[in-house]
Amino acid sequence: MTLERTFSILKPDAVAANAIGQIYTRLEQSQLKIVASKMLHLSPEQAAGFYAEHEGKSFYERLVSFMCSGPIMVQVLEGENAVTRYREIMGATDPEQAAAGTLRYDYGSIMPANAAHGSDSTESAAREIAYFFTNDELCPR
Ligand code: TYD
Ligand code: MG
Repeated sequence: MTLERTFSILKPDAVAANAIGQIYTRLEQSQLKIVASKMLHLSPEQAAGFYAEHEGKSFYERLVSFMCSGPIMVQVLEGENAVTRYREIMGATDPEQAAAGTLRYDYGSIMPANAAHGSDSTESAAREIAYFFTNDELCPR
């Protein structure tokens, strides 16, 4: 058993759809614990820095602009194999390819509006968690 942490964002489309509670329920039902959480409205600089790995790609500018278009929720999730499990719960990056019952299928629309972000590795998770949270904001249990 590998207890892991992953970093999650409910993107502006999911927050605008008033779906925070529904999505938190799904996370809790899947045995992922929310150990930190807050609402933010990102500046262009914050969004650009968060997605720096995609700088130069065709979708980068639209992605950054979308991420600043409204408030988001950022979370740290903890659980067994949390990185992989949360990516399964989110579904494929493109909502049009995502399996029925996944977050991106149910709450996403047209990329970059795909409802949710999840770290792609434990290394990314550590970096992304540190980008938004200080250690004393995490409440493991
Ligand atoms: P990426 O890291 O490839 O996907 P994931 O979020 O599943 O880790 O891309 C980051 C975000 O960029 C993705 O969630 C939505 C957006 N995006 C586009 O708008 N167009 C694209 O073609 C891709 C690949 C991503
Ligand atoms: Mg990614």
